[in-house]
Amino acid sequence: MVSTSLATVNFYAPIQDLMLQVEQRLRSQADSHHPDLGAALDHLLSSGGKRIRPAVTLLAGTMLGADTDSLVTLASAIELLHTATLVHDDLIDGAVLRRGITTLNARWSPAATVLTGDFIFARAARLAAETNSVTLMRMFAETLATIVNGEITQLFASRGNASRENYDQRIYAKTASLFELAATSVAMLSPVGEPVVEKMRCFGYDLGMAFQIVDDILDFTGEQATVGKPLASDLRQGLVTLPAIYYLEMRPSDPDMDAVLSGDPGAPVDMERLVSAIRASGAVERALQEASDYIDQGLACLAEMPDNPSRRSLEDLARYSVERRL
Ligand code: IPE
Ligand code: IPE
Ligand code: MG
Ligand code: MG
Repeated sequence: MVSTSLATVNFYAPIQDLMLQVEQRLRSQADSHHPDLGAALDHLLSSGGKRIRPAVTLLAGTMLGADTDSLVTLASAIELLHTATLVHDDLIDGAVLRRGITTLNARWSPAATVLTGDFIFARAARLAAETNSVTLMRMFAETLATIVNGEITQLFASRGNASRENYDQRIYAKTASLFELAATSVAMLSPVGEPVVEKMRCFGYDLGMAFQIVDDILDFTGEQATVGKPLASDLRQGLVTLPAIYYLEMRPSDPDMDAVLSGDPGAPVDMERLVSAIRASGAVERALQEASDYIDQGLACLAEMPDNPSRRSLEDLARYSVERRL
């Protein structure tokens, strides 16, 4: 069981300078294009975000001795890929709030939002190409395909689906695959062999699975002002996540849950009651334990990596990802 409080961790410390370079690199991506694209990218980058994926990339890379110039490029590419998926995800979900401010789709037409997402994907691809590694570009393209495949599966086949297998595939595709990319792609820039890549894959996978389970928990238990995005939105969309799956095991015949699972958007659901019942049932604690178990597994994979400040920060980051409130 992990037990580091967020207040006591500062996993950015060994990579502070590199994080600043990533921020500058991100900002410079809006140059010489339609001013609205530049303004949109600025709006997205200024809204913050935890920058957790570039932090994983930089920490994993510095831990393994990667070339730092390429590492900054790679970390920026990964954060931009994430940013673009959020732009499209919010449009698909009809979400109006992210990082405490209005989303692009809340301010702009769907057409302008889609195009802005495309532009950011293009910039991510250009950055990936700037690493000069064809292998890395292929890994990028494959991860993006996995994410999109997950999103479309969720759109067509996952509403009202309470199967555990479906959930695991879904969270791997939409989130863990990108963490896996962050953790393994740095090996292309480092003097390491296949056994290290495999350990890093296991770390990225476990961290990503835990990260998404916690995201799903926060949808039930988060503070709106802290999380900065609309809460209880998964169930409202008929998306059954781990706390709801555990609740269903304990209360197989809750009429409100039946209505959610029916997939009928017109079915009457007392959502407030259902969310309270799930929160009170112990399902959230079980889900959190599972996230924590993933982190323990991920930490075991890291234990075989070089022991240096970057590794210790990566361990802190992993612990933070289950303690986080944001
Ligand atoms: C949100 O990711 C989407 C998920 C895959 C859970 P983050 O929680 O990392 O979002 P930001 O970038 O910090 O806003
Ligand atoms: C988003 O997952 C993952 C991608 C953008 C691919 P969620 O739908 O859970 O993320 P939030 O909760 O909107 O941030
Ligand atoms: Mg979403
Ligand atoms: Mg979510």
